[in-house]
Amino acid sequence: MEGRSVGASRVEMNHLLLPSEANVLGTVHGGIIMRLVDEAGAVAAVRHAKRHCVTAEIDSMSFLAPARVGDLVTLKASVNLVGTTSIETGVRVETENLPTGRRTHISSAYIVYVALGADGKPCRVPSLIPETDEDRRRMAEAAVRREYRQQRKRAR
Ligand SMILES: CC(C)(COP(=O)(O)OP(=O)(O)OC[C@H]1O[C@@H](n2cnc3c(N)ncnc32)[C@H](O)[C@@H]1OP(=O)(O)O)[C@@H](O)C(=O)NCCC(=O)NCCS
Repeated sequence: MEGRSVGASRVEMNHLLLPSEANVLGTVHGGIIMRLVDEAGAVAAVRHAKRHCVTAEIDSMSFLAPARVGDLVTLKASVNLVGTTSIETGVRVETENLPTGRRTHISSAYIVYVALGADGKPCRVPSLIPETDEDRRRMAEAAVRREYRQQRKRAR
């Protein structure tokens, strides 16, 4: 199976935050941001695998600043590492206050997806070809997280 570059599956998605997505404080529910993060990560994973993928694990997520109604949320997702059937994606979330243009980094997350074959079982994914120093740095850091996840799974 031929490998695919990191750039081939990179994705950027935008979403305008609406009043229906706000909590009583007028800021946006964390769960809305989590859903968008999962969507962006899944698009990158499916683009890489060219298969349907399911979410296996979402690493802990922190919210560094609130997102507000009327903000434009931008999600940048890329594949960091692949295993045999799994794919780790990283997603960076920024908000833009449209009238001022001020951008704020509000969250980042790492999500593991597993590609499924036609039989609904995990299936092999193409290898990942890093092209830049940043791709290689992310790959090395993701390998440490993968090892940590596997150790934790073994300890269960
Ligand atoms: C994810 C899932 C397909 C894994 O199936 P499984 O039979 O446990 O698969 P395996 O043990 O063969 O592992 C397959 C791969 O998934 C990875 N994996 C499984 N569970 C994982 C977890 N919790 N975190 C990270 N990776 C995981 C394994 O490391 C392996 O990766 P590799 O092939 O790259 O080495 C299965 O647990 C599942 O269907 N879960 C539900 C997914 C879902 O519905 N998501 C939406 C949530 S609402």
